Parts: sequence; C-alpha cells; structure tokens
Amino acid sequence: MSQREQWSSKLGFILAAAGSAIGLGAIWKFPYIAGQNGGGAFFLIFILFTLFLGLPLLLAEFSIGRTAQSNAIDSYKKIAPGTQWHWIGVLGMVASFILLSFYSVVGGWIVIYLFKAITGQLNGLTSDQYGEVFGTTIADPWVSVIVQLIFILMTIVVVAKGVQQGIERASKIMMPALFVLFIVLVLRAVTLDGAGEGVRFLLLPDFSKVTPRTILEAMGQSFFTLSVGVSVMLTYSSYLPKNQSLPRSAVSIVIMNIFIVLLAGLAIFPAVFAFGLEPNAGPVLLFNVLPTIFNQLPFGMLFFIAFLILFLFAALTSAFSMLEIIVSVIAKNDPAKRTKWAWIIGIAIFIFGIPSALSYGVLSDITLFDKIIFDLADFAVSNVLLPLGCLLISIFVPLKMKKTALYEELKSGSSMKKGIFEVWFFLIRFVAPLFIIVVMLNMLGFY
Ligand code: PFF
Repeated sequence: MSQREQWSSKLGFILAAAGSAIGLGAIWKFPYIAGQNGGGAFFLIFILFTLFLGLPLLLAEFSIGRTAQSNAIDSYKKIAPGTQWHWIGVLGMVASFILLSFYSVVGGWIVIYLFKAITGQLNGLTSDQYGEVFGTTIADPWVSVIVQLIFILMTIVVVAKGVQQGIERASKIMMPALFVLFIVLVLRAVTLDGAGEGVRFLLLPDFSKVTPRTILEAMGQSFFTLSVGVSVMLTYSSYLPKNQSLPRSAVSIVIMNIFIVLLAGLAIFPAVFAFGLEPNAGPVLLFNVLPTIFNQLPFGMLFFIAFLILFLFAALTSAFSMLEIIVSVIAKNDPAKRTKWAWIIGIAIFIFGIPSALSYGVLSDITLFDKIIFDLADFAVSNVLLPLGCLLISIFVPLKMKKTALYEELKSGSSMKKGIFEVWFFLIRFVAPLFIIVVMLNMLGFY
C-alpha cells in the first residue's frame, strides 16, 4: 500500500478543517434558525453547546483520527478490533451522504445568485423584489436541479484530485478574504437606520422564547457548524503529523467559527429589522436580505459578487469534506480508485438530492411531519444523525481508548496541562452523553 499522504503544512490542516467547519452552517443556517428561535437566547445556548460539547467532541474526533491514522471506518477497527464500533463510521458516511444531498441545493442557490448578480439581474431591486426573484428562481425545477449539479460537479472535481493538491490549496486563499468582506458587510449593516433593534435581537437573550425545540436546534446547530459527529474531523486529523497540537487546532477552529457566526448574525439581523423583514423567514432569509444590504453600499453589486464567490468557496470546502470522508473509506489510498469513486458517489448524491432541490417548487406539497423534503433531510442530519454520532463517539472514546494514551496523544505537539485534560475527559465521559441523551429523548416527545 502506498504511504499515507500528510498535510504539507500545519496551516493546510487548520484551513481545511476550518474550511469544513465554516460554511453554510454559520453563514446561511445560523441566521435563519436563530431568527426562528428568538435570537439572543438561541445564540447564547448555541455558544454554550459549542464550548462544552462541540469543542470537546472535536478534540475527541481529532484524537481518534491521529491515534489510528486511518479512515472513518478503519480507525474504529484499529482501536477496537473485533467490535461493532466501526458502525459509527458507517453512520458518518450515511450522514455525509444525506448532508451533501441538501447542502448542494443551497450551494446551487449561491451559484444561481452569482450568475444573476454577474449578469446584472439583481441591480437596484427592493427587498420585497429580491424575495420574489429568489422565490421564483428556486421554484423552477430545471434551474434548481442544474445549479445543484454544478455545485456537486465542482465538489467532485476537487475531491477526485486528492487531499493535498485539492482541498488544501483552495482553502488557503479564500477564508481570510471571506472574513474581511464579512467585516465590511457588518459595518454597513449596523450603521443602517433602525439597525439597533437587530443588534439587540441577536445579543440580548430573551429566555421566554426558549423551548425544548430551541435547545435541540441549538445543539444540532453547534454540531453542524463544527462538522462533528460524522467522523469528518477524524478523517482530516488522520493526515496530521504527530508534532502538531490538536488542542490548539480545535480551539482555533471553534473561535473562528463563533466569530463567523457572530459576523453573520451582525450582518443579517440589523438589516432584517432596518428593512422591516421577518427574522423567521426560514431558509430563504439570507438570500432575501443579503442583496438588499449590498445595494446600500457604493459599488454594492461588485461587493456582492465578491462575497458570493467567497461564500461559494466556504460552502465548497465544507462539501469537499463530506465527499472526502466517503471516498477515503472506499478508495483507501489508491489515487486511481479515488477519482472513480469521487465521481460515482458524487453523482449518486446528486440523484438522491434531486427531491430536496425540487421541494421548493414542484414537490412543495410533499410533506412529512409538516416538513418538505429539504427540511426533512436537514432535520434527519442535524437533529438526529449528528447528535447520535456525537453520542456514540463520546461513549467510544472513554470506553475503548486508554486514558493515558489519550493524554499522550493530546499532549503530543502541544503543552496541554493535566488539569485541562481532566476537564475535557469529564466533559466527554459524562456531560456530553448525558446532555445528548436528554435532549434527544425530549425530541421524541415533542416532534
Ligand atoms: N460544518 C459545515 C457547515 O457549517 O456548513 C457543515 C458540515 C460539513 C457538517 C461536514 C458536517 C460535516 F461532516
């Protein structure tokens, strides 16, 4: 077997892992879920989940991956041979498959907006008109499926090329640029007339709005934005040499992620309130609000085009990771197989995702539990499969990995103190499983 590839630099790993984390979850999903769940209280609960559950779980995946140095299934087999624990990896592959099937729908929405912005079709409309244009566009069956295909094709091409040349190179350029543009956007949004109410909506928690559903969604959202529970982060860290610090990588990913979530919230909500829009508009929220804000900037459409390109990259780097985890299991390290399987699986995901793409148009009447197909796929992943994956990982790590070996792994390349390690171990062993079980049991009661 050929030698396993490794990241060519520490920055490459961080950017790729951060690239997987930062994507539609922080930029598109967070604002609309926070909008539906009352704003500030949701934001606070999301941050608590991210710090006390998401971050420890991210470290847990990192330690499994670098200990085993293998893919999402073989890693579990290596650490716990002859057991059934590798089903966590299978679960992750299924979750990634479904995830990419609807993620690519939203990726397609970015593609179509980019096309419309470049061809001047979005110049100078009112926010209502943007809503209308967007609504009719995504209801068009051909358009929505074709743009979804375009997004998946871009994902396939990069993943087919392999870990280093593909993912690493693309992540390196785009992320810092996205941060910069986001800051410009926030500055414009918070200086709009009437923006204050939106800032308060995001930053002042109103706990009367908290329901069990808020808590479930905040938990799902924190796992979603960190890409944990799917063994994606496990797969990425398996390429990392031993002299790199896992805790430092995990912490910087979490900080970047919270920062982007904050920027997204500070860009969207002030604008929503200033323009008199509804914060609970659902998945279309970002797409209705963004062009209206950009319209208020000098050279607004140019900025908007730049933003969409960077946003598309952020979505793509997350999409790469979803396809990568499946391909790395099937193709092992054989480059010829990698290309073939990236195509086969990518196209299968596209076909599976067509009903999600059509669920804003011709299939909008098909619902289950009051949810259209797109929402069902999202719900299954964010609120069922990811928490389940996280639960199993939090049981697997303390049960099947030796505590001393875990400490050595986390200390390798870092200066992690014993006390911090003990806190992490406690969170993984007791807090994470308990919380996830309680929240998931609760879900059975109210959905
Ligand atoms: N973290 C990504 C985002 O927030 O857009 C979504 C994601 C990617 C979730 C990869 C899970 C995953 F395995």
